[in-house]
Amino acid sequence: MSATVATDPAPPRPPLQSWPLLRRLLARFGPYRAAAAGVFVLVLLRTALEIAAPFFVQRAVDAFADGTAVAAHRLPEGYATILAAFAAVLVARAVVAYGSAVGAASLAQAIENRFRSDLFRRVTKLRFRWHDRNRSGKTIARSLRDMERARLFFREVAFGYLELILLLVLGVAGCAVLHPLFGALVALTSVTGFLLTLRVASRIAKMDLAADDEYDHVSTVLQENVAGARVIRAFGREPEESSKFGGRLTTFTGSWHNVVLFWTGRMTWIGSIHHGGLVLNVIAGAWLVGRGSVTPGAVAAVFLIVRALTQRLRNMTRLVIMGQQAVASAARVFEVLENDDVIAFPADPKTLPGDGAARGALRIDDVTFSYVAGTPVLRGVTLHVPAGQSLGILGPTAAGKTTLVQLLPRFYDPDSGSITLDGVDLRNLDPAALTAAVGIVFQEPFLFSATVADNISYGNPGVPRERVVACAKLAAAHEFIEKLPKGYETVVGERGVSLSGGQRQRLTIARALAMDPRVLVFDDATASVDAVTEKELFQGIRAAARGRTTLVISQRITSIRWCDRVAVLDRGTVTAIGTHDELLAASPLYREVFEHQRIQGIAL
Ligand SMILES: Nc1ncnc2c1ncn2[C@@H]1O[C@H](COP(=O)(O)OP(=O)(O)OP(=O)(O)O)[C@@H](O)[C@H]1O
Ligand SMILES: [Mg+2]
Repeated sequence: MSATVATDPAPPRPPLQSWPLLRRLLARFGPYRAAAAGVFVLVLLRTALEIAAPFFVQRAVDAFADGTAVAAHRLPEGYATILAAFAAVLVARAVVAYGSAVGAASLAQAIENRFRSDLFRRVTKLRFRWHDRNRSGKTIARSLRDMERARLFFREVAFGYLELILLLVLGVAGCAVLHPLFGALVALTSVTGFLLTLRVASRIAKMDLAADDEYDHVSTVLQENVAGARVIRAFGREPEESSKFGGRLTTFTGSWHNVVLFWTGRMTWIGSIHHGGLVLNVIAGAWLVGRGSVTPGAVAAVFLIVRALTQRLRNMTRLVIMGQQAVASAARVFEVLENDDVIAFPADPKTLPGDGAARGALRIDDVTFSYVAGTPVLRGVTLHVPAGQSLGILGPTAAGKTTLVQLLPRFYDPDSGSITLDGVDLRNLDPAALTAAVGIVFQEPFLFSATVADNISYGNPGVPRERVVACAKLAAAHEFIEKLPKGYETVVGERGVSLSGGQRQRLTIARALAMDPRVLVFDDATASVDAVTEKELFQGIRAAARGRTTLVISQRITSIRWCDRVAVLDRGTVTAIGTHDELLAASPLYREVFEHQRIQGIAL
């Protein structure tokens, strides 16, 4: 087992063929009841016409049966009418088939779109606790695939089953009209074929889902080998990774091989049943003709009906497999859709006092917070920052600094205690006002695959170019942006030009400044820039901070000593607060950090 790659097991598969799930999927047709009824009528009509066509063949055959027309070297009486009616049925069937296909496809599309956007909306509303648990790209890739499969339910599966069942019922009824024996034989063989296919296809679907899990493992190893290529090479683990990949691949290929063997074997048997049924009907037909119970035309008609049924039943395997995959995938989509852990929107959202614009007075009172119940990360944190003042927060790694920052935009809510902005509790504040008031530079810089200018104006898309440039200058980013191939129009992010960690960080600082928030928060924003750039950057940040409430988080004293006050956060509690000089006298931890960094030449 290699330490570099932890293969995340797929979430447990829900039991297949579960009726509650099916009901929930069908309920999605609800808002489109009228359209669905229309499509149902068209499918019914189409199937009826399909079963009606052989009856005209019966007429056309039987017209020759008494031999008079043949002897007289002419067409039987009324033959042109029979042919014209037959042609009319074929044309009508084609037209209705077109209409039902288009109707079904657009209905499915509408339901699918709503399903997709429901999922997207839910994910954007879910609390970050859910995102914490589903952090990896793998989960997202899996959800996308689940969505792709679940949507096939509306597109192929629901109407596929409807058509099949209508065809079976009308087909058996049509044969029974020709002769009860035909009806009985066709009912027996096609229902047997239907049930057998259902059973075998369900088995195949289960094997296929298992093979799918194996495929997940293969792609996980592959994905992590690409993402972690540098780590793997640096630690010389290529042989292990490659043999692990080989192992996964062998397991996957093996399970696929089994699926194919089983499928081909069973389907050959089921095919024989259908074929046998057809032969049985023809023999029974000859016997009935001999007895004078039916005409030869009736035998031809039964033959055509049975052939149509057989063809449809042969394709049923695909339908069952797709259906089971869709239901299994839908289970996971519903799990997200029905997750109630969403961000609570205040029942009676309050605006900020006065004209509604934030002034930026921030009060954190006795806040306790834990990610996992029972292990608080913040304990009784109280910090008051008057509007327009700056507060530095210094603390060792894992002290809870980033956690504290994440409470401000309400990524999480405190377990107890309160946070207020200009006297309004964040939990009651209009979320849009909160978003506009608080700008954060995150510890881990994230840029979108877009131009530099678009990235900077992300929170405030209408901002004029001069302001974008001014913010870039404050963030000490203007100079390097100018040197990029297309300056402010250079595409960065995952699909663009690669930037260094420090360059990315400076762009995210410019992005926060461009929002012009009253409360500015820098979470270790200068960790990956050199000392000279940091100094330049802080000149900009200090200029930008003027008149705003500013929180600066860092492990470096140089980054925070200019702040009006500094708080020392240690293991989730504020142990000291004051100016740089006060802390040197009062906080042993602050003094220790200062001495240490002074010796290293970091704190000057
Ligand atoms: N999403 C999360 N789920 C569970 N625990 C978390 C989560 N994020 C952080 N923690 C835990 O909370 C504690 C505080 O983490 P936090 O990121 O706030 O520290 P920090 O002070 O910002 O550290 P650093 O200086 O290294 O950035 C750590 O013990 C961490 O393991
Ligand atoms: Mg942090």
